[in-house]
This record gives sequence, structure tokens and C-alpha cells, in this order.
Amino acid sequence: MLWGGVLVCQAGALGSFLPTCRPCHEPGRAAVARRLAPLPETDGVGLPLTGIVMKIRFTLNDRPTEVEAEAGRSALTLLRDDLRLTGTKVGCDTLDCGVCAVLYDDRLVKACSLTAADLDGHRVVTIEGIHGPAGGLSDLQEAFLDHGAVQCGYCIPAMILAGEALLRRNPAPSRDDIRRGLATVLCRCTGYQQIIDAVADTARRRQAGARVAGELESAQ
Ligand code: FES
Ligand code: FES
Repeated sequence: MLWGGVLVCQAGALGSFLPTCRPCHEPGRAAVARRLAPLPETDGVGLPLTGIVMKIRFTLNDRPTEVEAEAGRSALTLLRDDLRLTGTKVGCDTLDCGVCAVLYDDRLVKACSLTAADLDGHRVVTIEGIHGPAGGLSDLQEAFLDHGAVQCGYCIPAMILAGEALLRRNPAPSRDDIRRGLATVLCRCTGYQQIIDAVADTARRRQAGARVAGELESAQ
């Protein structure tokens, strides 16, 4: 899609409509290096992780999911390479940029900080699990478009998830709350203002909707 003269990757930014978009399939150099490097020998409590393959059962985008994977493998590569959820991006792969963030039991967590074993028994939502009631874009995704908050789109899946996590725990955030709520994710393109505007606008609309719904209920 063309946005402000720039080709925006919808697979990355707003869903998964263009799964062949090249950046979505290009792992970061750090991720490649990690795949080539030996896995850590232990998980920090003395249990060897290398070579242990386990069944991992978790809820992914509201669906029960089961995969077999090496316990110490990166959850980020598991999501992208095995489960083909390439809306979750690879940036630094060193816990700095936040573009790999997913919702993990409703909390915003960097997927590159999780192992495959960490997924077992938990709920994970990626950008592919975010949608409106009828299955199209969510109100927050629409607001990002309305406010011109998307440029290259690479950080946008994580920004949307960060905004969603914030609005679920704080439906009426101040602009400072929004800044803090989005601080995990770095955007290389924008000045953040449009992104903050989009989240603030969504908060206002959701609150107005909740007020109307409350009034209708009390009138019945
Ligand atoms: S890829 Fe940068 S924090 Fe995970
Ligand atoms: S829109 Fe390009 S990195 Fe955020």
C-alpha cells in the first residue's frame, strides 16, 4: 500500500495481507549469527537446554497451539520461522529495540527475550491476532492510518501491541502515560507524535463508546 509516497508493508504494519514482503522474511544479522552459534549450555539453573526437544502447548492468537522445539531456542524465530507469524519483527535481537514485542499473558514482552520453553502454558498474541470485531483492522490500527503514524512500518506491529497493552490496563492514559507505555519500542522513522496521537485518539473513542453503552444499558 502507498502511504505518503512510501510503500508500507501491511504484513508488517497492520496485519498479514502481503506475506511475501521481503523485509518480513529477512532475519537480522544477529539472529542469523545466533542460529549459527551454539545454544547456551544451561538455562541458568543448571539444566542443560541444548538438544532438549519438548512439546510446547500454548495459546497463540486465541488458538490452542502445539509445536515441538528445542527448549532453549528463541521464541522469536519459532514464531517467525516455524509458525510463519512474520508480523513479529527482528531488529537488534539484543533486547534493545522492542520491535519483536508480543503480548505474553497480556503483558508486552520482547520475544527475543523468551525461549521456546517460556511459551509453554502461556497466552501469546502477535500482530496477526489483533483485529476489529468483524475481522478487519482494529480501531487502533485504523487510528494509526488516520493520524499518519506509519512510515516504513517496521516498528508498527510492536507499537500497536504496546498501545493495546497500555489501553487494556489504562483505558484513559495521559500523553505521558502513552509515552511511557510505548517506550519499549523504538521507531527509526517518526517523531512519535503521530503514534501518540493515534493511541490518545483511540482511548478517547473507546471511552466515548463505553459511555454510550453504559447509558443505553441504564436506559433499558
Ligand atoms: S529484536 Fe530488538 S528487542 Fe528483540
Ligand atoms: S515507522 Fe519506520 S521504524 Fe517506525
